[in-house]
Amino acid sequence: MTDRFAVIGNPIGHTKSPLIHGLFAEAMRQAISYVAIEGPLEPEDGFERVVRRFAAEGGKGLNVTAPFKLKAFALADVRSERAALAGAANALKFEGGRIVAENFDGIGLLRDIEANLGVPLARRRVLLLGAGGAARGALLPFIGAGPAELVIANRDLSKGEALVAQVGAQGGALHACGYGELAAMGRFDVVVNATSASLTGDLPPVPPSVFSPAGTAYELAYGKGLTPFLRLARNAGVHGVADGVGMLVEQAAEAFEWWRDVRPPTSAVIDRLAVPLD
Ligand code: ATR
Repeated sequence: MTDRFAVIGNPIGHTKSPLIHGLFAEAMRQAISYVAIEGPLEPEDGFERVVRRFAAEGGKGLNVTAPFKLKAFALADVRSERAALAGAANALKFEGGRIVAENFDGIGLLRDIEANLGVPLARRRVLLLGAGGAARGALLPFIGAGPAELVIANRDLSKGEALVAQVGAQGGALHACGYGELAAMGRFDVVVNATSASLTGDLPPVPPSVFSPAGTAYELAYGKGLTPFLRLARNAGVHGVADGVGMLVEQAAEAFEWWRDVRPPTSAVIDRLAVPLD
């Protein structure tokens, strides 16, 4: 029987995951089915029931998107360290009657920055904007990349500080600050917008002085063209601006490999989904 996979979220109409996994399966000659499922917002245990039914009917794995990443993490029997730090899962695997939770968002982001854009984070000054789920997912992979300094800026400073305290032991040159402190902190080589501001067309209150013209500005949102954050970076003279399309495809490739034990090629898929930034 063809192995069954799906992405579950609500709303789910906009998802690119079936297209991405379909292209991966074609490239790797894997016979899989991958569909989109609109998960129920009500009742409270509706999401869990759908997941358990999918597994009971022979489903092999799920990608999970908003607003279910926390619930997916909570219902798992086994959780990876990066999923634990994020407190959220974006992929589930069903094996031996157990539900295993992973979070590939951060590693997908890191791979896109380092492998696709050719920007190693080692010994660089890195600024991460936001301290919500998206930023938390990025934290362990970013620390693992060995930056000279990793600063988390958030409006609510206590959230950033809590995050630093959580990973403090392995953190090294990791600290949190408010946006007001950034003007005095000089330039960063890589600035990543992991806030949800761009989803509403807003701009985090980041001073243009954080950007270096030779550096990189990365927007986690994708398919929105030049967001206010990317425009600010461009106006500050940054040439290397990118949105999250590569991250989206790379996290999908991580999940595909986790499920299928083969790594699909990503660049043609990224090219196919990319929306011009100007
Ligand atoms: P996600 O899962 O997308 O990270 P989240 O967990 O709700 O969503 O977190 C949203 C993040 O975006 C938070 O860091 C939030 O900052 P606060 O914690 O200070 O609220 C940040 N955010 C949202 N809108 C923003 C804006 N207009 N400017 C700056 N930060 C913003």
